Amino acid sequence: MARIFSGIQPTGIAHLGNYLGAIQNWVKLQETHECLFCLVDLHAITMAQDPAGLRDQTRVNAAILLACGIKPETLFHQSAVHAHARLAWIFNCVARFGWLNRMTQFKDKAGRDREAVSTGLFVYPNLMAADILAYHATQVPVGDDQRQHLELANDIAAKFNHDYGVDFFPRIEPYIPPATARIMSLRDASKKMSKSDPSDQSRIHLNDEPDSIAAKIRRAKTDPAPLPDHAEALAGRPEAANLVSIFAAITGRSSAQILTEYAGSGFGPFKEKLAEALIGTLAPIRERSAALLADPAHLDRTLQTSARRAAAIADPIVDEAERLVGFLPR
Ligand code: TRP
Repeated sequence: MARIFSGIQPTGIAHLGNYLGAIQNWVKLQETHECLFCLVDLHAITMAQDPAGLRDQTRVNAAILLACGIKPETLFHQSAVHAHARLAWIFNCVARFGWLNRMTQFKDKAGRDREAVSTGLFVYPNLMAADILAYHATQVPVGDDQRQHLELANDIAAKFNHDYGVDFFPRIEPYIPPATARIMSLRDASKKMSKSDPSDQSRIHLNDEPDSIAAKIRRAKTDPAPLPDHAEALAGRPEAANLVSIFAAITGRSSAQILTEYAGSGFGPFKEKLAEALIGTLAPIRERSAALLADPAHLDRTLQTSARRAAAIADPIVDEAERLVGFLPR
């Protein structure tokens, strides 16, 4: 059985785009694959974080993921499994400076201020490669924006294998799930729904109160025309298209089916039904996550137990990598 690894940033709060684009799919993959899902707190501190905020948000996101149906035994925090950092150091010495210099995400995040970003941000992709390869995971469900990082991970694995004359690290396949909805900002449909958008109104957090969900949908940007009767007519109407695809994704129907029902309708009644559907799915997630957060010590223990299970897989692999490099046994 192919082993799946994926990571999610513990900062910010998981939102509808994360749910429909990734989390929902992770929940399904658990039925058919051995899965490891990781809150990547080591990656989080490549940018400045308030310590108390990081701790809180790691717990909140853990609770949300569990509430969405991620199995407790598959979810852990990256810092609790030292194998990630150990292997990342080796990869810092395998990857070439020039490779990292070409990473588009680094260029985007560093912006014009390259001299001032942390060196951790620069080697972020090496740590990501270590996350995956410490488990010999071969399937990595990620969004398209992470594709370049996976290619780099394969380059690192190939160079390690070549330099040490072994066939130790496997090739990774990006697992870009079939037909997942790309959910856009509620304020500007040319941008993805994102944790880093300064406007709270641009996204629906998975733990938003029902009233707040309804208000965000009511205020979501639209255009004056009524809804068309077929999906092709949504071309050039990105805001309308986004709301229709959210409605379709959350109800498990197609955009065509939604439009058959709402053709000719204005956005008022449509948005009311959309909010109802969202609340129907998200209210139970909010309630379950609140119950988990009521006992943070128990939540911490759940993550620690899974981390030990993850370490039992990764430790022997990273021990062997260290032996291949020439380190004495630890
Ligand atoms: N870089 C990923 C993101 O920002 C998160 C991540 C870290 C990840 N390590 C990973 C994803 C390993 C997949 C596999 O979304």
